[in-house]
Amino acid sequence: MKLEGKKALITGGNSGIGLATAKLFIQEGAQVAITGRNQKTLDKAIQYLGPKATAYRADVTDSAARKDLFARIAKDFGHLDIVFANAGIAGQTKAGSTDEATFENIIRINLTGAFFTVESALPLLKDGSSIIFNGSVIGTLGQSGYAAYAASKAGLRALSRSLAADLAPRNIRVNVVAPGATKTPIWGPADENSPLVKAIASTVPLGRFGEPEEQAKAVLFLASDDSSYVNAIELFADGGASGTPFGGPAFRQ
Ligand SMILES: NC(=O)c1ccc[n+]([C@@H]2O[C@H](COP(=O)([O-])OP(=O)(O)OC[C@H]3O[C@@H](n4cnc5c(N)ncnc54)[C@H](OP(=O)(O)O)[C@@H]3O)[C@@H](O)[C@H]2O)c1
Repeated sequence: MKLEGKKALITGGNSGIGLATAKLFIQEGAQVAITGRNQKTLDKAIQYLGPKATAYRADVTDSAARKDLFARIAKDFGHLDIVFANAGIAGQTKAGSTDEATFENIIRINLTGAFFTVESALPLLKDGSSIIFNGSVIGTLGQSGYAAYAASKAGLRALSRSLAADLAPRNIRVNVVAPGATKTPIWGPADENSPLVKAIASTVPLGRFGEPEEQAKAVLFLASDDSSYVNAIELFADGGASGTPFGGPAFRQ
């Protein structure tokens, strides 16, 4: 087991990549705190994850809720070894039709919320801990309509590198996992046969969306001692979409 006795916090652990990661961390021996805003999906997640998971309702943009969250985690867990700052939203901010509130909400959740999650976790994090941010291929590849989302994810890459330097004296590693298109509720009702999903899959060298469990395995690598000398990197788990953007079925003769 790769995380025997470890204590992990996963924001947005009630859905998608966060939930799959919580499951895998628990299978690997960890005790896991999950957060989210939706009490129903938090309750469902706890049923699914079992007694090694604890759910806390908290919005990453609400500083009072965050203070309360970390006070409760301190009481329940004592310390943390891993933080996966995963909570995030996708939202459209197309040039020419975007209001300031929509843009700022995406930045507040995806970037500011992730930074202050880590900031609040620092007093609980043991030396030698691992911090992982959930980035995105969109932080590197441009996509129409996603300026704020792209900026938030590129911002995570940039801030993770500064944090890695800040925290190196404590032996705390800071990395980013950058998923490509992955089957989670973030895509809304789109199913595998929708034109959008088919079009995106056809641009991915591996010809398909990723599974949340495949992202979880990349996060486990960064969280565990398997990556003990890996620091300040962005690990793309994207079927090759960013490395070879013309490698997908759509571009084959
Ligand atoms: N799926 C993809 O294709 C893909 C690709 C690249 C990157 N990502 C990234 O992966 C991360 C997880 O997304 P997902 O795909 O797993 O989608 P998801 O199933 O929609 O999960 C998003 C999670 O974030 C939580 N969340 C959102 N806003 C929050 C807030 N203000 N405070 C606390 N929690 C909040 C949600 O919980 P509540 O709704 O309960 O708040 C939910 O648990 C995101 O950062 C996303 O940008 C996903």
